[in-house]
Amino acid sequence: MKIDNLNSVHKIIDLIINNRLDKNSICVDATLGNGFDTLKLSKLLNNTGKIYSFDIQKVAIENSISLFKKENIDTNNIIIINDNHNKIREYVKENIDFFIMNLGYLPSGDKNITTNYIEVITFLESTLEIMNKNAFGIIVFYPGHSEGMKEYIKVREYLETLPQKSFNVIDINLLNQKNYPPALTIIERI
Ligand SMILES: C[S@@+](CC[C@H](N)C(=O)[O-])C[C@H]1O[C@@H](n2cnc3c(N)ncnc32)[C@H](O)[C@@H]1O
Repeated sequence: MKIDNLNSVHKIIDLIINNRLDKNSICVDATLGNGFDTLKLSKLLNNTGKIYSFDIQKVAIENSISLFKKENIDTNNIIIINDNHNKIREYVKENIDFFIMNLGYLPSGDKNITTNYIEVITFLESTLEIMNKNAFGIIVFYPGHSEGMKEYIKVREYLETLPQKSFNVIDINLLNQKNYPPALTIIERI
């Protein structure tokens, strides 16, 4: 699939996942939310591979299940987990090829329930240990509000400490867009 231009992080994500994932990939969506990222992965995997999808909010899970029904996708390979992503290793007992974390609050949900950098870093510490060679993860940050900026700074401070011989850590920013658009960080296991 050709992408017309690169004016949003979501198009950049599409470009990367279409290039790097295959139908047998084992994926983790750390923040299921309204289900759009898991839906995208499900379409790409075409009912093979596996997707573990976490969210602490029941309403997010209900919204996602409605979306999957509406889109008529087979959900046999989607494992929905109503728990904190910082407990990933209690649920995921195999190595993974990909993870995505779309940080912040549930769009059109309770803005007080949001990701926080301590749990994000715990998730990363646990998950980086179970990444296959060439596996990669994408984090979408929203630095346009103060909590999001704090999360962006703290998580990046942690990522800067990862050993260069084991990981590539890549930052993507849309530098000339107004009002702090979302930013991407990619972590690739070497
Ligand atoms: C920006 S939304 C995710 C959007 C989603 N990926 C989509 O495609 O619609 C962030 C979600 O993370 C969830 N969340 C926040 N902290 C969490 C945690 N520690 N573990 C799991 N989910 C969490 C929130 O409940 C919210 O639904």
